[in-house]
Amino acid sequence: MRTTTAILFTGALAAFGLVFGAAACGGASFQGNRAEEIDTSSYPADIQASYKVTAQRCSKCHSLARVWESGITDEDYWVRYVERMRHQPGSGITKGDESVILHFLFYYSAQKRDAGASKTAANP
Ligand code: HEC
Repeated sequence: MRTTTAILFTGALAAFGLVFGAAACGGASFQGNRAEEIDTSSYPADIQASYKVTAQRCSKCHSLARVWESGITDEDYWVRYVERMRHQPGSGITKGDESVILHFLFYYSAQKRDAGASKTAANP
């Protein structure tokens, strides 16, 4: 399964080629609601790879929109939430998935914070 490739990715730049492989054909293999997916095409390859794991793992019990619209931008909160979700019965989330998912959620939160900051700066 292709997502295994993404999971194996732990931040090593050496894995770049593998990640591109996963990004190229990962989309077809999971059943999330596509409307809830976010456009990660402008994100770095490692973030795109960790997004795939996040979208797959976190859409099992509730919509992905619930994750994106939670309003959480604090990294400590994400650590706690992902841990809590992992402990939900039948989550299918492994300890190893956690760091991959957090890799994406931290990036996503930083994007959200930046967007908020530039909006304030542009519209004082
Ligand atoms: C096994 C089922 C399951 C999986 C998998 C799961 N969740 Fe949840 N999630 C729940 C349930 C049940 C709730 C509501 C109860 C609660 O808040 O603990 C919830 C609530 C949430 C909330 C709170 C939303 C709100 O409106 O307050 C967030 C955020 C969230 N999940 C994020 C995630 C993330 C991120 C992942 C992937 C790491 C994930 N969930 C995977 C079952 C799951």
